[in-house]
Amino acid sequence: MLKKKPIAIDLFCGVGGTTEGLNKAGFNIIGAIDNDNVAVDGFKLNHKHTNVLLADITKVKPKVFANKLGIRAGSLDLLAGCPPCQGFSRLKAKFSKVQSKDKRNDLVLEYIRFVKELKPKSILLENVPGLKTDRRFSKIKLELEKLGYNLDYGILDAANYGVPQRRKRFILIGSRIKKVKLSNTTRIKKTVSNAFAGMKKAGNSGDWMHDTLVEYRKDVLNIIKRIPKNGGSRSDLPYKYQLPSRKKQSKFNDVYSRMHWNKPAPTITGGCTSASKGRFIHPTENRAITLREAAILQGFRKSYKFPKNTNRQNLARLIGNAFPPQFTKAHAKVFIKY
Ligand SMILES: C[S@@+](CC[C@H](N)C(=O)[O-])C[C@H]1O[C@@H](n2cnc3c(N)ncnc32)[C@H](O)[C@@H]1O
Repeated sequence: MLKKKPIAIDLFCGVGGTTEGLNKAGFNIIGAIDNDNVAVDGFKLNHKHTNVLLADITKVKPKVFANKLGIRAGSLDLLAGCPPCQGFSRLKAKFSKVQSKDKRNDLVLEYIRFVKELKPKSILLENVPGLKTDRRFSKIKLELEKLGYNLDYGILDAANYGVPQRRKRFILIGSRIKKVKLSNTTRIKKTVSNAFAGMKKAGNSGDWMHDTLVEYRKDVLNIIKRIPKNGGSRSDLPYKYQLPSRKKQSKFNDVYSRMHWNKPAPTITGGCTSASKGRFIHPTENRAITLREAAILQGFRKSYKFPKNTNRQNLARLIGNAFPPQFTKAHAKVFIKY
């Protein structure tokens, strides 16, 4: 007889990175919520059996949503959530004194509201490292412990969990049933070379995500061509080719830099397909990485579908916002053991 899969809900599901990881860990994701229609379109293309609600979560009554999914409080195996994290990010914190007042930070409390009402057996909260030091975290931790959850949490690097990318994230897992421990790291780190192995040439692959290439201005292309292959950066070039900001010792040293074949990629952000937004130039070709390459470095399978009814910036944002599926899978698997 087929064993029934444990059931999960994914809050702030985006284009589906977390759901993809939960699915790979062995969960049946029965419901998901996000308020971004393009993200939800993308989610639906890949997770046809999940009931995804396009809504502002602050307006959703958890029990009404649970009813719609045919479950009662206490019967959900896992509630996963990845509230927006821009407000906590290190970069923002560095340049803005008002970072902890960012409204998006309060959405993490929406996740707690759902936990309180749905009483899932286990929880998985993903966020940026800044959450751990935010004043809200001590409140969140106390509330979850009061609700009876055994917790484990930490700031972990996705590169240590089979993702070909350095990406430090805060992960919290909890269970009302047992003591839990975050997953062990993998022994081998994946590199850009591992990730791009077997890919067809960009521009002529038959995959629109890999074929829509940026046309650079002549002067920009001239600079990109000169950047040393395999890990070089614009700061390696003669002074006249450097950015005005670089000349002033900018904090953004990585802009117009190439990835290294034999290292994990840098953190994939919403600007991941722009040479001017970070170390996003291909290791050897004279262009920034394509949308497909960005999605692969984020840990999405090569066949993952993205919506066509939007522009490149939006797609890069959805990819950059996603949680790498293998990262989620590693920690969600901890619960599957029960
Ligand atoms: C960090 S991303 C989640 C990424 C997702 N877990 C993935 O792996 O693709 C945060 C998500 O929260 C969504 N969001 C922001 N405000 C929201 C709100 N008020 N209600 C519902 N979703 C919201 C955003 O649209 C975004 O997709």
